[in-house]
Amino acid sequence: MKIIIINGPNLNLLGKREPEVYGTTTFEEYFKDLQDNYKSIELSYYQSNIEGELIDKIQEVGFSHHAIILNAAAYTHTSIGIADAIKAITTPVIEVHISNTFSRESFRHQSYISPNVQGIIIGFGMKSYELALQSFL
Ligand code: DQA
Repeated sequence: MKIIIINGPNLNLLGKREPEVYGTTTFEEYFKDLQDNYKSIELSYYQSNIEGELIDKIQEVGFSHHAIILNAAAYTHTSIGIADAIKAITTPVIEVHISNTFSRESFRHQSYISPNVQGIIIGFGMKSYELALQSFL
């Protein structure tokens, strides 16, 4: 089973960025643990700070992979382009967020992505990604 985790802007700074919100683990460390714990899955990871690159990646994997776990970060709240890309592909997408976006600023309460995804996992810290992964098993 081929599953990709796609992370949007500023998530390359996990571990350093607002640790009180996002924790102190880097995504690379967390991803290595996931790979070790789910050896039966062909798990890959992509991160970009650029909206168009995220759309390119969604299109590239969106007809071949079994699942996409997507944290579009700030683009969640702004990007019709990413929402349309999710609509255009056949691979199911799970939207994840590390923080509970509904307990934060009101601009984080809107997601352009949510209507087009299979499910949403929000607010379980880094564990949100693992919960999404388990939903495909
Ligand atoms: C986030 C929540 C977004 O509102 C924010 O812009 C992020 C990270 C999360 O995982 O909690 O960058 O997607």
